[in-house]
Amino acid sequence: MIPDSFKQDLLNRVDIVDIVERYVPLKKSGTNLSACCPFHSEKTPSFTVSPTKQFYHCFGCQASGNAITFVMEYQGLGYVEAVRELAESVGMTLPEFQPSKKEAQLRDEGPDLTAALERAAAFYREQLKASPKAIDYLKGRGLTGQIAARFGIGYAPDDWQGLQKPFPDYAKDKSLVDSGLVIQNEEGRRYDRFRDRVMFPILNQRGAVIGFGGRVIGAGEPKYLNSPETPLFEKGRELYGLSQARIPIRESGRVIVVEGYMDVVALAQHGVGYAVATLGTATSATHVSKLLRQTDEVVFCFDGDAAGRRAAWHALEVCLPLLADRKTMRFLFLPPEHDPDSFVREHGKDMFEAKLREAWPLSKFMLEELKSRVDTATPEGRARLVHEAKPLLKQIATPVMQFQMLKEIAHISNMQLEAVAAECGIALRGSRPSARHFTGPEGRANGGQGAEQRPYQEKGSLSPERRRARAFLRYALLVPSLAEKVPEEVLDGQSPEAKVLTLMVRHIAEKDLTATRDLLDWLHEQPEAELARSLSEEIMGTTFADNDIEVEFNKALEQIEEFRYENQIRELEAKDKREGLSSDEARTYQSLILEKIRLQEQRKAPRPVV
Ligand code: CTP
Ligand code: MN
Repeated sequence: MIPDSFKQDLLNRVDIVDIVERYVPLKKSGTNLSACCPFHSEKTPSFTVSPTKQFYHCFGCQASGNAITFVMEYQGLGYVEAVRELAESVGMTLPEFQPSKKEAQLRDEGPDLTAALERAAAFYREQLKASPKAIDYLKGRGLTGQIAARFGIGYAPDDWQGLQKPFPDYAKDKSLVDSGLVIQNEEGRRYDRFRDRVMFPILNQRGAVIGFGGRVIGAGEPKYLNSPETPLFEKGRELYGLSQARIPIRESGRVIVVEGYMDVVALAQHGVGYAVATLGTATSATHVSKLLRQTDEVVFCFDGDAAGRRAAWHALEVCLPLLADRKTMRFLFLPPEHDPDSFVREHGKDMFEAKLREAWPLSKFMLEELKSRVDTATPEGRARLVHEAKPLLKQIATPVMQFQMLKEIAHISNMQLEAVAAECGIALRGSRPSARHFTGPEGRANGGQGAEQRPYQEKGSLSPERRRARAFLRYALLVPSLAEKVPEEVLDGQSPEAKVLTLMVRHIAEKDLTATRDLLDWLHEQPEAELARSLSEEIMGTTFADNDIEVEFNKALEQIEEFRYENQIRELEAKDKREGLSSDEARTYQSLILEKIRLQEQRKAPRPVV
């Protein structure tokens, strides 16, 4: 663990504007700076960096965070790595800490492994030039030297100790075994893992070699041999070709996920540069999240056979919890005899891209697949459909999409929407409360019940209580010193906003925080990710001075006070109607009325700005 104090020192020392500008040119826009977002493709800049809040936020893809997050996301680094990199760039040294086993491995062996893998890759590339057999094989598969170079394709010679050449210390060098390049048998004898194979280096997001895939030339078993998992190489996290596909992904606004090395390379050969491959493993949530950070549209294109369809279904299940309103996920099924490589070679880029445009949206794939599993002509079949759809529907992350799919399932199964929702244990959103409830964040404290526990933050449809808590969250974020004045009745609620607000008020008091940026950090560590995102968005768009915020805050306080009076007044009026008031109560009633009028007038009067 890196101590919190170190992280704070670091964030105080670096300037997020400098950090971002190392990679992305920023333009001044108002008090902030902006650029086209490096995390998704766009033509008009919606990526904003605030020098005062030391925070970035993209209004397009909702990426947001501080300097550390930026380095993590942009360079694909882990937290510790990112902190180390930033710290070194400003001459700070990481304090001694107890590294986890994996981090220790990464640190102690990481550089060695990378160096060994890079050296091997260079050797394999050289060997390719000297092997007519391997060159002919690649040419026979339609690849040019240019594409082979772009992917760093090489050849491992037919030799048990070929790597002895680039590694004179072959017999002892520990990194050879640890990186998986060399296998050591029980007697301690060493030999090359890859022999007489075409070599595909696997790069991480920074473009460093972390492993290899090697294909036999022609027929033979196993067809592909891959590096074992090492501290540098985790198959469930890495995507083949991502480093080369980065720019094409940004330019085309989409990424295609395919199964094979050759699919990626052949597509690139034909001008489709935005493809990546899972490394002989199933699509993982990490894969998909990684891609969604870079683009809004992911198309899965697996082989046209039964195995391909199963792989696609698995990908669909992985995607459901990751769905977001602006993201599209689609599925392309090629004819059963084809994989992307053979298809693009036979039909060319234009046909492939035409197919791509016809790719099924996730919703269609889900429905078609479910329908194909049952006989919807029978009541039993329709009942089973609902049963099979249930776990999938529950996984869908966006309420709008969930609702749409519920509707579709209800239609196919010939059931009422409410019945399907109840069967699946999904709470339907109540009908929209009428407009009079939305008079502002301070809206009346009654009404809007039933909308309370909606899990998501669609600002316009929040209940008045939640809107109020959200407004106070915003005030306290912008001017943390106001936190101590947030009234009890705002804190006292069960909504996610009220809970976060309560925690935040406590956090500000405990840590004695005064800066918005510290709070934004904290907010992003809370489980309410949506709320954190939408608040940062709003905060980044706020250009008011602290004074203005304070004035707004005080107005909100006065309104709350007014409501307090109003509630008491109403109670007394009700009692008057029922049984009449005692003289004491009548006096209270009068003073409440006067107090309310005083407040209203005070609110209308122009106030001096302090
Ligand atoms: N794979 C693997 N080990 C194998 C077979 C396959 O790791 N023995 C992985 C590889 O990443 C391969 C992918 O699964 O690229 C897809 O396998 P497959 O469809 O069999 O091969 P293709 O990519 O079509 O290979 P080629 O076109 O070279 O025959
Ligand atoms: Mn193939």
